[in-house]
Amino acid sequence: MSTKRIVVLISGSGSNLQAIINAIDAGHINGRIEHVISNKADAYGLVRAEQAGISYSVIDHKAFDSRESFDAHTRQVIDKYAPDLVVLAGFMRILSAAFVQHYRGKMLNIHPSLLPKYKGLHTHKRALEAGDNEHGCTVHFVTEELDGGPLLVQACVPVSSDDTEASLQAKVHQREHVAYPLAVELICADRIRFDEAGIFLDDELLPPSGFRLAYDA
Ligand code: GRF
Repeated sequence: MSTKRIVVLISGSGSNLQAIINAIDAGHINGRIEHVISNKADAYGLVRAEQAGISYSVIDHKAFDSRESFDAHTRQVIDKYAPDLVVLAGFMRILSAAFVQHYRGKMLNIHPSLLPKYKGLHTHKRALEAGDNEHGCTVHFVTEELDGGPLLVQACVPVSSDDTEASLQAKVHQREHVAYPLAVELICADRIRFDEAGIFLDDELLPPSGFRLAYDA
């Protein structure tokens, strides 16, 4: 099986990027990060890329006069690396339909909630306000619907009565660093396929919530 080519898009700290770099270094992922793109020049994730010896580009969305022109340029840069997988890791831009369609079936995102709950922002606050006793994160394929594509991996955390938005966010973030490398690992090992029926792992149909990681995994 050929080593999969991965391009990662970030906007910030890049701790999920780091988790994927670490999993590759540990030999868990049959893939290589060919390039990292950030829309922010000061994203700490770029330091992580540099330290790992990964090439990167900054594409400042503010330098473009429309979402479509930013997306078209970003797409050109991504496609130079002929990726098998495009990983959105804290990339804080809404993508145009043409961009999403171009990478259909090979672009992943991570969202800090147990989707389909709490699409959009302030997920931790909303989970607390709803009195949920469980919260978490979801890795999903990207479709035109914001935070709406087929769900691949979910990891949960228990919500305790003394949790604050910050403590819950920290707990979920830790689980992201397990869930995202696992999702990338499964795809790079050719263990995932999807069609109209849903997502299959090793030819078994996953539930609509995706593969669910145990609390202690
Ligand atoms: C994560 O919380 C992720 O769920 C959200 O953006 C954040 C990125 O964090 N989409 P990092 O940049 O990977 O540290």
